[in-house]
Amino acid sequence: MREILPGLYILRKDRLATRSPSQEPLYGEQIVDGLRVWDPRRSKLASLLLRHHCLEGVVPSGKVLYLGAANGATVSYLSDILTDGLIYAVEISPRAMRDLLHLAERRENVIPVLGDAARPETYRRIVEPVDLIYQDVAQRNQAEIASRNAAIYLKPNSLMVVMIKAMSIDSTARAADIFDEEIKRLRGVEVLRRVDLPHHRDHIAVIARKVR
Ligand SMILES: C[S@@+](CC[C@H](N)C(=O)[O-])C[C@H]1O[C@@H](n2cnc3c(N)ncnc32)[C@H](O)[C@@H]1O
Repeated sequence: MREILPGLYILRKDRLATRSPSQEPLYGEQIVDGLRVWDPRRSKLASLLLRHHCLEGVVPSGKVLYLGAANGATVSYLSDILTDGLIYAVEISPRAMRDLLHLAERRENVIPVLGDAARPETYRRIVEPVDLIYQDVAQRNQAEIASRNAAIYLKPNSLMVVMIKAMSIDSTARAADIFDEEIKRLRGVEVLRRVDLPHHRDHIAVIARKVR
């Protein structure tokens, strides 16, 4: 077992694990030696972190705006490693929000926000400037949503990670062409890297930095 970021470990060659305050499974995951196993097949962020340590400088004390939090499974692992940080978790579905609220009751560093990431101005009273935006909304206008949030909430020079799902944009065109087109639509950021996700073949992760 090797620690690749504070509080984040590699177990064998393709599993991550985090140290959780409760040491109990939250989403049916395995617990090994007191660590919560984080399966890259179930989380795009875990799959990305196995290839690129994009959270360097953000953990353990950064502030994160997470767009498309769903039931909070990936948020819960971020919560484990952001021991002195904060996660604003935005989700549009009231059903998913119920699970997210349940997580937030157990985790002081998770602030659930029921809202539409395509209308970032609507949560201005809740969310403050952040050190990282992580987006996984699976919508047609993924680049536009990310760019609008970055313009309002991302601190200059800070990173944004956008998970782009080809099928959500166009189910007929070649995935590689869709990724190129969507990356061109990002505004106000410099694209640093695109990363294929071996466990999520219809997606890529785009890592970008906000320009001043
Ligand atoms: C692929 S799932 C996210 C999975 C989650 N990131 C994880 O790893 O556990 C996409 C989520 O984005 C949410 N979503 C879609 N459009 C949204 C929007 N405009 N604003 C906020 N959430 C949105 C969906 O309801 C869904 O829960």
